[in-house]
Amino acid sequence: MDNIDIQAIRAAFPILKREVNGKPLVYLDNGATTQKPQAVIDAIIHYYSDMNSNVHRGVHYLSQISTDAFEVTRRKVQEFIHAQHDHEVIITKGTTESINIVAQCYGKAFIHAGDEIIISAMEHHSNIVPWQMLCEDKGAFLKVIPMNEAGELDMEVYRTLLNDKTKLVAVNYVSNALGTINPIKEIIDLAHASHAVVLIDAAQAIQHIPMDVQALDVDFLVFSGHKMYGPTGVGVLYGKEALLNQMPPYQGGGDMIKEVTFEKTTYNELPFKFEAGTPNIEAGITLDAAIDFIQGIGLEHIKKYEDELLAYATEQLLTIDGLRIIGTAKEKSSVVSFVIDGTHPYDVGVILDKLGIAVRTGHHCAQPVMDQFGIPGTIRASFALYNTKEEIDALVAGVKRAVNMLI
Ligand code: ALA
Repeated sequence: MDNIDIQAIRAAFPILKREVNGKPLVYLDNGATTQKPQAVIDAIIHYYSDMNSNVHRGVHYLSQISTDAFEVTRRKVQEFIHAQHDHEVIITKGTTESINIVAQCYGKAFIHAGDEIIISAMEHHSNIVPWQMLCEDKGAFLKVIPMNEAGELDMEVYRTLLNDKTKLVAVNYVSNALGTINPIKEIIDLAHASHAVVLIDAAQAIQHIPMDVQALDVDFLVFSGHKMYGPTGVGVLYGKEALLNQMPPYQGGGDMIKEVTFEKTTYNELPFKFEAGTPNIEAGITLDAAIDFIQGIGLEHIKKYEDELLAYATEQLLTIDGLRIIGTAKEKSSVVSFVIDGTHPYDVGVILDKLGIAVRTGHHCAQPVMDQFGIPGTIRASFALYNTKEEIDALVAGVKRAVNMLI
């Protein structure tokens, strides 16, 4: 636990002081959304108290300072993911919208009947359905990289799926349901060797693993603000400049135009071409504070600490009779999904809630994963940098109590 002052970190998150059902809150649903540090909450209050105004539109003072702050976030994201240009960072509503922009805009320009798109067996619905919709629209085909019983992708099959019809590969960096960290550099390099572009869904990675889009040579990378200690309603689509320039806009409206006449509209430059309408200004501006918070601790330290939490939780949970972990890949992020013989995940989740412990139960928007394992869902504990071994002890004690009540 070197370099992490856990008590100072916890003190930065006001919600962690509250009780739920008369018990201290144990928040282990960070894969769904993380809690927000005071710095982010203060930034939101500051925005509405002192700055509120529309961006990219006004000559007046408040509009200028809001616009500047919004663009500060864009540059902060650029640095955070090591993008070459700030205009390669498109500010969106979140991961889902970012994937849909690529599916619809890249798809419109580059996907044709008979083309193939590859996803993996462990995708979230938001990285399945947009590609299914595109394939249906274009007469293209969706191929799926299978995974083994541990929840690791079968890279040999992936190699055989790639061919000259493959136009795009879309996979997650970290599985939200299993915690698997995928070998994305290898996935990207193999796709590029087949002249396919790659989208990486980093929604479950950006808050845990240092990111360098240039070193990865990834074509598109997407993530959400609210899973990285930031506000909801904001996310990022990173795309290589050359690709974004060749794609048509996503939506028509304000900000994405250069000139409009009834005869013809010309489109704005990057990044604004993909940012039609008033954005979520507050969230765009305050995502900056969340990145500062992460960088103030350092993702290397965060990853090391969370790896220790993962190892401890895995070891402790496995002491419970009848408990089976779903997702036992060698490379995992801080997610433990499990089932217990003779119990339904929902019932265990409800009992844990009565004890103040928040976990997610169900299919986690990854129904094909549950189908492969032949289960209706799992109980998922997902950790963030403010969680502690004591909270894992509370989870284990809570699960034992649930088992005693249910079996
Ligand atoms: N995708 C989020 C999760 O895994 C909501 O819980």
